[in-house]
Amino acid sequence: MRGHDLFRFGAVAACLLCYTTILLGGTVMASGSGLACPDWPSCFGNGDLLPAFHGSVAIEWSHRVSAFFLSATVLTVFVLAVAFERSRPALLRMAFGAVVLVVGEALLGALVVESDLQVPIILLHLGIATALFGLLLVLATLANLRGLPRRWLDWARRASEEVPNPVGSSPGIASPSPPSVPEVPYGWPREG
Ligand code: HEM
Repeated sequence: MRGHDLFRFGAVAACLLCYTTILLGGTVMASGSGLACPDWPSCFGNGDLLPAFHGSVAIEWSHRVSAFFLSATVLTVFVLAVAFERSRPALLRMAFGAVVLVVGEALLGALVVESDLQVPIILLHLGIATALFGLLLVLATLANLRGLPRRWLDWARRASEEVPNPVGSSPGIASPSPPSVPEVPYGWPREG
């Protein structure tokens, strides 16, 4: 497999892992498992990386493990970008931005726990997660753009273009001409 392919597959994997981590984070929040692991990085501060896997500990620990794999994948994508994508500097910059966000997010996750779930810190944690996912989605799309089927690109271009006479136009856009109705004679046909 060529370096470019590794990079574009890695970018898609990072995007999917980020979504998984966000879903698990939401589960931690919704199930009230945020303090099931009161320490960081190990669950109970004893250095044990495999805590008893049940109930809320399982939920909170899954989020952390997923975050770990996400961080490792984002770092790998950046290393691949440095090695193989120097001729695409925008992608290189995005991969670097993703590293900054993911490292910041992991440290902030620790702060979420240490702060006993202070709301502003949780909101920042959610905000950075959203920004990271958006960035990874754009990166994965751009990294794979050249390999996308022609008809997808044509569809995307058509979808972004203005339609001359849109149906149900909004203010500011020229209103559509009414559909032409064929002239149909009405009334009873005269006899004779
Ligand atoms: C690095 C990638 C990470 C991402 C993308 C991420 C994302 C999220 C998201 C989206 C939520 C849900 C927030 C909400 O619904 O308001 C969440 C919750 C949470 N995250 Fe993370 N997280 C990451 C890493 C971490 C790490 C490393 C830790 C712990 C060390 C952590 C601890 C928590 C906790 C405790 C909650 C639940 C907060 C609560 O119960 O209110 N996160 N995370």
